[in-house]
Amino acid sequence: MSSGCIILERFDDGVARITINRPDRLNALNSEVMKVLEETFLAAAADPQVKGLILTGAGEKAFAAGADIKEFTFRSPVEAQMSSERGHRILRLLETMGKPSIAAINGYALGGGLELALACTLRVASTHAKLGLPEVKLGLIPGYGGTERLPVLVGKGRALELLLTGEPVDAQEAWRIGLVNHVVDPEGLLEFCHGLMKRMVANAPRALALAMQAVERGPGHESALFGLAASTQDMREGVQAFLEKRPPQFQGR
Ligand code: COA
Repeated sequence: MSSGCIILERFDDGVARITINRPDRLNALNSEVMKVLEETFLAAAADPQVKGLILTGAGEKAFAAGADIKEFTFRSPVEAQMSSERGHRILRLLETMGKPSIAAINGYALGGGLELALACTLRVASTHAKLGLPEVKLGLIPGYGGTERLPVLVGKGRALELLLTGEPVDAQEAWRIGLVNHVVDPEGLLEFCHGLMKRMVANAPRALALAMQAVERGPGHESALFGLAASTQDMREGVQAFLEKRPPQFQGR
């Protein structure tokens, strides 16, 4: 599924790449982009051939420079709230689809752009990336989960500094505070992310989904999810393959 503003590429190894394609607007997330992103996430979630997603932005300048500011014409608090709730729903879909995702942050990841990256399982930034939540500079606060996900990732104090100054951090600082997992040269970014994703999706799909669920749910759920993982065919295959000194053939069952 490709629809102008979103390009979807599927590779033979189960990796799919989603590119936000509005480079002249620094890939700002307008309602059309959000709509197609939702459709793309739903299709990826339902497609057994897709094992993991890489999200990136078209061009060399931006991953996504935020929600589209031109659409900030809310006529009522309810309308604004609904817009935020829609963003939450779409990003939550990505976060909970049970397949790993990597944000390949190839430039600015600001506002909603950073919030999209925060909803991915992992984040990799190119050396020239800039990441921030500048909403307060517009008299707003983040509306796509930034105030919720950022503190979990970097701690309350660092999150509040980013939220209240509205100033971006560079890739190196983002790595230092745990906002991104890796920093790589721009020309090697997509290849690096693809390699990292392949290392994840080589493992048992249900185990990946259950591990993500365990982290997502937090303390108190691990044992039940461990029980589920131990009941899969893939667990039997993984153990058998280890004992027979051969690579496992996981089926996702
Ligand atoms: N929404 C809508 N349009 C946006 C946008 C956004 N979030 N971010 C950038 N654009 C548009 C610009 O208006 C500009 O359009 P124009 O060519 O018609 O003037 C185009 O994208 C290129 O951006 P420009 O500002 O010229 O690039 P720059 O290199 O000078 O600055 C930024 C880059 C990221 C610093 C600057 O674009 C910016 O501050 N963007 C807004 C970031 C933001 O506040 N995001 C959070 C929204 S809640």
